[in-house]
Amino acid sequence: MKKYYITTAIDYPNGLPHIGHAYEKVFADIVARYRRLRGEEVYFLTGVDQHGQKMQQTAEAEGVNVATLAKRNTRKFLALWEKLGVEFDGWAETTSDLHKACVQRILSDLHDQGQLYKKAYRGYYSVRQEQYLTEKDRDDAGNFGPEWGEVVELEEDNWYFKLSEHAAWLREAVSSGAFGIRPEFRKAEVLNALERAGDTDLCISRPKERLHWGIEIPFDPDYVTYVWFDALINYISFAGYRKEDGAPLPDFDGLWPADAQLIGKDILVPAHAIYWPCMLHAIGIPDDRMPTLLVHGWWNIRGEKMSKSLGNVVDPDQLADRFGVDALRYYLVRDIHTGKDSDFDLERLVMLFNTELANDLGNLLNRSLNMTKRFLAATIEDTPHDDEECAALRSSLEAATAAYRAAMDACDLPHALEAINSHVVHCNGFAERNKPWELAKDEAARPRLAAVLNHLCESCAHLSVLLAPVLPAAAAKIQGQLRADHLATLSLDDLRWGLLPSGHTTGKPKPVFPRIEVEEVA
Ligand code: ME8
Ligand code: MG
Repeated sequence: MKKYYITTAIDYPNGLPHIGHAYEKVFADIVARYRRLRGEEVYFLTGVDQHGQKMQQTAEAEGVNVATLAKRNTRKFLALWEKLGVEFDGWAETTSDLHKACVQRILSDLHDQGQLYKKAYRGYYSVRQEQYLTEKDRDDAGNFGPEWGEVVELEEDNWYFKLSEHAAWLREAVSSGAFGIRPEFRKAEVLNALERAGDTDLCISRPKERLHWGIEIPFDPDYVTYVWFDALINYISFAGYRKEDGAPLPDFDGLWPADAQLIGKDILVPAHAIYWPCMLHAIGIPDDRMPTLLVHGWWNIRGEKMSKSLGNVVDPDQLADRFGVDALRYYLVRDIHTGKDSDFDLERLVMLFNTELANDLGNLLNRSLNMTKRFLAATIEDTPHDDEECAALRSSLEAATAAYRAAMDACDLPHALEAINSHVVHCNGFAERNKPWELAKDEAARPRLAAVLNHLCESCAHLSVLLAPVLPAAAAKIQGQLRADHLATLSLDDLRWGLLPSGHTTGKPKPVFPRIEVEEVA
C-alpha cells in the first residue's frame, strides 16, 4: 500500500526556530496524525536546510566552524519539535551523505542529458537572497529595494539549468492540475506569475572561492551547488530517489509523489512553483507523479512581518513553557485559515484556550465524569434513550463528526476545530437543560439520569478521538480519565455509538485544561 507522504519546507537553521516554523510543523504533524486516524500508512518528512552563504557568513562572524554551527542550530530545531509533540518519520539534513550523493547523481544525470551549461554572468547579486538580480527586480525608483539586503556587482562563470525548456510544460501542468497547488487562489497566482515570467534559465552553481559551504558540482570541483537546487532535492533524496548508483529508482521506496508538500507563501514563486516542478520534469518524473503543494499563509506581528531586524520574532519554545504545549498547538492551527495570513496575538491564544478548551471541553469532561461517579457509582448504564433531547445530541455528534471529517480531509484545521467545539457546546447545553443533578434526587428518574450521563460520557469518548491529531497528549489524558485507553487504537471509521459499553467504569476527573490565569499577557 502506498503511504500518504507529507513533507514540509525544510527550515533554514541560521538562528532560532520561530512561530512560523512551529505552525508549519504542527500543521504537518496534525495532518499526518489525522491520516493515520483514517487508517492510512503515513510518512512525514521534515528537516533542515544547512548549506548556503548565510550559514557561511554567520559562522565566519561568530568565529566557529560552519559544520559546528549547522549542528548546533539543527539541535535547537530537533529539541523544539520534540517539545511540541511534532512526530516525524524522516529527518532531512542536507549535509547528510545520502542527500549529497543524490544531489550529485542528479547533477550528473542532467549534465549527461545536456540540461546544464556553463556561461559567463555579469551583473548584480543579492547576498541576502543568494540570487542574481535582473532589471525586473528594481523598484519604481530604479533601485534594488531593502528586501534584497546588500547588493553587489559580480562577474563570474557559472552553471545553468535549462529551466526555459520546461516553461511550456509547466504552464500546462499547473493549469491541468497535474502539478497540484492548493488552495485554489494560489494556483491562480502561480499561473499569473508564469504568464509574466521571461524565458530565463536558472543559475545552479556558486564558485567555491566565494562560497565553499555547499555540495560540490561533481563534474566541476571549483563550484558548489546553489542552495535552493540542493535543498529542494531533499523531498526526493530522503524518499529514496537515486539512493544508489545505477538506474534511477522509480519506486522511491513507495513514497513519491508527495500527497501534501507544505510550504509558506513566500517560497512558492519561484522556488516551489517553478524551479521544483521543472527539476522533477527534467529528471524524468512523469506527470502523474508530480507532488501537490499545500501553501500556507503567514503569521505576522501587529500587521508586520516577523523579522530579526524588527526584533519582533516570537519564540515558540518560551510560549510553550509559559502557556503549555496544548495552548500553543491549538492556537497555531485554530486562528489562521489555510493560505491566509493572521496576526499572532497572545490575548487570543489565552482567550481561545480558556474559552474552547478550559471552559467548554474541560467543563464538559469534568461534569460528565464527576456526576457519573457521584450518581451512578462511575458506571455507564445503557438505558433506553429515545427522547428528543437524546436524539438531538446524537445528531449533533454525527453532524460534528461529518463536518470535522470534511474539514480535515481538506486540511482545513480551523473548521475541524469549530466542528469539535460545536458538539462540546451542544453537550454543555444538554447538561444544563436536562439537569442530571436534579434527576439524581428522584429515584423514578434514574433511567433518564443514566441516559443523560451516558450521552455525555459517550460524547467525551468520541471527542477525544477527534481531538487526538491536534492535541495528542490531552486526548490521551481524557481517555485515561474515561478509563478507555482502547480509544487510542481506534480509527475514524470505528467511531459509532457505544464506545463506552454498558457496565463500563469511568475514572476520576482531573483538569486537563487548567485555565490560564494572567493579568497581563503582552
Ligand atoms: O525558506 N509564518 O526556510 P525558512 C508562517 N530553507 N510560516 C513561515 C513564517 C511565518 N511568519 N516564516 C517562515 C526556507 N515560514 C528554505 C526552505 S525548502 C526546499 C527550503 C515558513 O526557515 C516558510 O514559508 O525561511 C517556509 O515554508 C518555512 O517556514 C521555512 O522557512
Ligand atoms: Mg525563508
